[in-house]
Amino acid sequence: MIRICPSILNANFDDLPNEIRRVAGHADLLHLDVMDNIFVPNFTFDLAKSLEIIAESALPVDVHLMIDEPDTEAIKFATDNTASITVHYEACNDPQQTLRDIRSMGVRAGLAIKPNTHIEEIQELLSEVDMILVMTVEPGFGGQRFMSEMMPKVEMARKWFRQKGWDEKWIQVDGGISLETIRTAYLAGADTFVAGSAVYRSDNPAEMIDRLREEALS
Ligand code: DX5
Ligand code: ZN
Repeated sequence: MIRICPSILNANFDDLPNEIRRVAGHADLLHLDVMDNIFVPNFTFDLAKSLEIIAESALPVDVHLMIDEPDTEAIKFATDNTASITVHYEACNDPQQTLRDIRSMGVRAGLAIKPNTHIEEIQELLSEVDMILVMTVEPGFGGQRFMSEMMPKVEMARKWFRQKGWDEKWIQVDGGISLETIRTAYLAGADTFVAGSAVYRSDNPAEMIDRLREEALS
């Protein structure tokens, strides 16, 4: 069982509800990249706009917060249509408490790490998460090259989850996922795949999602 989560970072921002509807029957979750121009050098949506997109989304939303100090802000993204909220380990003052707060809202809690962060740094927090997000690019922009050198982190996370029998926790990869790279990430142990430019820069986003899924499991 794998999940494909299209990121709308490369979609047409002027017509997001329709852009999301185009992929709704094919994708599992909509990946919403929230950037504050502090934690990353780019800005996308503020809270109000994010809540609007989430409310209008034809798919449950996987919120990826690339914002500094998300500790108190994160739970504000929880709605009936929010499936998960992911915060960056590097950005939190108190990651454990933040993850607990997210879960207390009835939403899955994700913990993300940037390429320079070692997976061992979050090992102690694994009991608090529903998903780990191993970034396979430097967060901030779509369309970057997939960093295959991140795969040992995915392998390690998968090993820990297996050892603990934590089958319900997910491992997500985000950045540069395409027909060329998705199989590599799957074989390393990822089960949840964000794809931005691969989906929204293709002529047929819905079909591309089907092809990505097939390629991962090929
Ligand atoms: C990057 C974002 C990604 C981005 C992925 O900081 O977190 O979700 O949209 O885009 P692609 O798939 O084009 O690398
Ligand atoms: Zn993302």
